[in-house]
Amino acid sequence: MAIVSAINLKGGVGKTSLCLHLAGALSQLGRRVLAVDNDPQSSLTAGFLGSQPTRQLDPSGTIAAIYAGDDPMPGAVIRPTGFERIDLLAGSRFAVGSNVPNPHTAPHADQVLLRDFLELVRGDYDVVLIDCPPNLHMASWAAMAASDAFMVPVQPEDFGAQGTQDVIESAAGVRAVVNPGLALAGYIVSMYQARRSVHQAYVAHLKEAHGAAVFAAAIPEAAEFAEAVMARKPIGFHKPRGAAAKAIRAVAEELVGRLDAIAVGSRAGEAA
Ligand SMILES: Nc1ncnc2c1ncn2[C@@H]1O[C@H](COP(=O)(O)OP(=O)(O)OP(=O)(O)O)[C@@H](O)[C@H]1O
Ligand SMILES: [Mg+2]
Repeated sequence: MAIVSAINLKGGVGKTSLCLHLAGALSQLGRRVLAVDNDPQSSLTAGFLGSQPTRQLDPSGTIAAIYAGDDPMPGAVIRPTGFERIDLLAGSRFAVGSNVPNPHTAPHADQVLLRDFLELVRGDYDVVLIDCPPNLHMASWAAMAASDAFMVPVQPEDFGAQGTQDVIESAAGVRAVVNPGLALAGYIVSMYQARRSVHQAYVAHLKEAHGAAVFAAAIPEAAEFAEAVMARKPIGFHKPRGAAAKAIRAVAEELVGRLDAIAVGSRAGEAA
């Protein structure tokens, strides 16, 4: 089983969309998935449950209980989504107070609350996907502390790519302080328009800078993704035969391969 976080300091790059649709694609590949909404905006939860039901969730049944140090039983905070093999650890706007800046200065116990909780459910899932807020405060830090790997969705117009630099520095901090085994699963280009030369140039630039860390599979810009969210379904359950679903499936397959390679590498490291 692998735990993987979606991290980018930049907002609106497709982190939540990636987690929702990947959860669907992975479940359709036969994997048991836990989707973790680690963003107080709770968009991933709204994607599964709808906005109003999400607002009305009692924080004791969400990730807020974990960050509050309440040590909830898994069954109290993890719920089925209605999609086979996908469970949800719901997010909560009440978790915003725990998302403190400068997480490396916070007590160690706070940094590992999410990791300790996920240890309890490790055996129940093949993949845990953690959606994170567009900042590098405690939520993203705790997610990386709990993760085997992180993936960085990037929009192909952010030529400065300052967001990703900060992510790499934050990941280095997590490795130094709390999780030396944290691996980079890779950069995933989202909202890609193959016919736009500016997008082609961006991807070429990204591959020059990061080589094999860039996923070969990209997520195209497509209205169906947002439509699927409106329908509260991962794209694979909304339009399973469409190009958008096919693209996400390719990303899911590549992610599985990368996570397997990371697991093999870390076992080899332990044995050495
Ligand atoms: N591949 C895509 N094609 C078209 N629209 C997309 C695609 N991916 C995401 N979007 C849309 O772009 C917007 C931002 O996406 P999303 O919410 O996933 O980003 P985010 O990085 O999670 O944002 P935030 O930083 O606020 O959490 C949403 O309205 C979403 O529906
Ligand atoms: Mg989001």
